[in-house]
Amino acid sequence: MGILEGKRVLVTGVLTDASIGFHVARIAQEQGAEVVLTAYPRPTLTARIAKRLPTGPDAPPPVLELDVMNPEHLDSLAGRLREAGFDRLDGVVHAIGFAPQNALGGNFLETPWEDVATAVHASTYSLKALTMACLPLMTEGGAVVGLDFDATKAWPVYDWMGVAKAGLESCSRYLAKYLGPKNIRVNLVAAGPLATMAAKSIPGFEGMTDMWPQVAPLGWDIKDSEPTARAVAALLSDWFPATTGEIVHVDGGLHAMGGPS
Ligand SMILES: NC(=O)c1ccc[n+]([C@@H]2O[C@H](COP(=O)([O-])OP(=O)(O)OC[C@H]3O[C@@H](n4cnc5c(N)ncnc54)[C@H](O)[C@@H]3O)[C@@H](O)[C@H]2O)c1
Repeated sequence: MGILEGKRVLVTGVLTDASIGFHVARIAQEQGAEVVLTAYPRPTLTARIAKRLPTGPDAPPPVLELDVMNPEHLDSLAGRLREAGFDRLDGVVHAIGFAPQNALGGNFLETPWEDVATAVHASTYSLKALTMACLPLMTEGGAVVGLDFDATKAWPVYDWMGVAKAGLESCSRYLAKYLGPKNIRVNLVAAGPLATMAAKSIPGFEGMTDMWPQVAPLGWDIKDSEPTARAVAALLSDWFPATTGEIVHVDGGLHAMGGPS
């Protein structure tokens, strides 16, 4: 029996089959969860990718359009989930990040507020917005899990996305505080660099992917999202019943090192 048997889990962020969200959905299904996907910007594209999940081309999960910056999409989400047969959710996975090019890649000192605001809206505030949109269906408690990139350091090229992630870390702690009484846990997985669309769109990100395996004591494979997705699944499960406001590092151990050995 899988660790997510009987759980109903909403997974965002499935853009390609390299997306962290895709691997989370895959492992969630393998562990017994019933999965529903949300999609942005093209639900037809996500629906095509969804056919590659373990439930196969004949029984892919429902795909609902959701731009986390669109209030109408958020307001209608609970109703659309009910129509899709999900009248209860036990888990919500936030695998969403976006920053305009101007906010990344070494342009930190020149980035205008409008671009910073977009990054924070899409990548930080969206954790609260998504959670609140799903809350009417989380009637029996549950778990919210988001994807983080360790925001305790200033990284090369990550720039305003790093600031947005620092906000995400804080946001998850406040959500943990306010939703704990409803028995909803809120945690983040801080992953090392992975070869996804979001990562490729950051100019100069190779610098980080080259350095990571040299510093991480367990090594690091930028093509392997399995460890990250497993940690998300574990946090969605009943195996972390007293853990909330936490950040689990899935980075080969790099965060604990002072440099290459
Ligand atoms: N790839 C990495 O190196 C890495 C490392 C640590 C954390 N993360 C985080 O993992 C999460 C998933 O990213 P990924 O690496 O799988 O890349 P990805 O490009 O596959 O996924 C990013 C997702 O964000 C979604 N998105 C962007 N704007 C949105 C909006 N307005 N509404 C709804 N969805 C929106 C996109 O549709 C896409 O599905 C992000 O939060 C990212 O910051 C990535």
